[in-house]
Amino acid sequence: MIDLRSDTLTKPTPHMLQTILTASLGDDDRTHELGRGEDPTVNELEDLAARITGKQAAVLVPSGCMANTAAVLAQVKPGSTLLVDEQQHLLLSEKYLFDPDFGRMQLKTYRHDEHGQPNLDDIAAALDAGGVDLICVENSHNYAGGAVVTCDRLAAVHELAQAHGVPVHMDGARLFNAATALGVPAADICVHVDSLMFCLSKGLGAPVGSVICSDQETILAARRIRKALGGAMRQAGIIAAPGIYALRHHVERLQEDHDNARAFADAIAGLACTRIVGDVVTNIVVVDVSGITDDPLAYCERAAEHGLIIRPVMKRYIRFVFYLGITHDDALEAARIVRELESAFAR
Ligand SMILES: Cc1ncc(COP(=O)(O)O)c(C=O)c1O
Repeated sequence: MIDLRSDTLTKPTPHMLQTILTASLGDDDRTHELGRGEDPTVNELEDLAARITGKQAAVLVPSGCMANTAAVLAQVKPGSTLLVDEQQHLLLSEKYLFDPDFGRMQLKTYRHDEHGQPNLDDIAAALDAGGVDLICVENSHNYAGGAVVTCDRLAAVHELAQAHGVPVHMDGARLFNAATALGVPAADICVHVDSLMFCLSKGLGAPVGSVICSDQETILAARRIRKALGGAMRQAGIIAAPGIYALRHHVERLQEDHDNARAFADAIAGLACTRIVGDVVTNIVVVDVSGITDDPLAYCERAAEHGLIIRPVMKRYIRFVFYLGITHDDALEAARIVRELESAFAR
C-alpha cells in the first residue's frame, strides 16, 4: 500500500532513534526564572530553533495544534479577534481557539489567491475597520495545495499589521518546505512575522514535537500556556534529540519530496476530469475529482482497493502528501492508480 494521507506518517530513522540513547536528559519542567528547564537537550533544540528562525527564543511543545494555541494565547486574551485565512488549518481543523467554551476567539477572515497568497485588500479592509488583535498566516499553506507565501507578500502583510499595531503569527508547520521551495533560509521568511511555530513531526521526520519561536516575552508567556495545556514535559530530551537530528539532517532532503510531488502531478496533468488545485511547489498535491464523482470518500475507498491510501480534505478535494519514506517509484505508481481510477469511474 502507498499511504499519501499525510507527512505526519513519517517514521523515525534508525540514526534518529540512536540520538535518543545518548541524549543528556533533565527535568524540562523544573524551570529557572527565564523559564528554561533543566533538560540540556531540550535547551539545545530551543536554541537551535531560535537561531535558525532568527528569533530571540523558542519553546518545545508536543504538537502543532498546541503550538498554534499557545502562541496565540501568549499574545492575545481569549475572546480577542483573530484575522485568519479562510482555509487556515487552525480554523478548519484545530478549531479550539474559536470554540465558545475554550479560546472564545472572534473570527475575521481573509481570502488567498489561486497561488495561495493572502489577499492584501481583505487584510487592509479588516484592519481599517478596527478590532483585529492578531493576524494569522500559514506557510506553506496546507489546504491551498502546499502553496508557499512569498517573502514579499509576507512583508506586505507585516507592514499593514505593524501600521495598526497588530502582531502576526505564522503557522509554519511546514516552514522548511516553504523555505526549500523559495530557496531562502527559514529566517528570511520568519523575519516578517512576530511569532511562528514549525513542526518537527511532519516532513522533517521526527516522531513528536513542534517549536514556537518569537521574542523572549512571548516565549515566556507561551511556556505558561504550555504548562496550563498539559504540554510541559519532564525528560523531553528524548523528543528533542530526534528533533535536533531532523533539523541537522532532514531539511535538505525535503527537495526530494517536492520532486516526487511534481513527478506525480506531471504524470496526472493530462487527465480530463482529475484537476490539480493550485500550484504544486512543495510536498502536497490537492486534487479535485468532482469531474468524476461527487463523493470523494467513495473515490478514496476505490483508491484503497488499488493500493493507494488517501483522504478527502475540505469535504470536496483529495490530498496527496509526499514525505520521507515515499519514493519516486511510489509517486509514479500513485499517478498510475489515479489515471486508472479516472477510467474506472467512467465505466
Ligand atoms: C498547517 C498545519 N498546522 C498545524 C497542524 C497541527 O499539527 P499537529 O498534528 O502536530 O497538532 C497541522 C497538522 O497536520 C497542519 O497541517
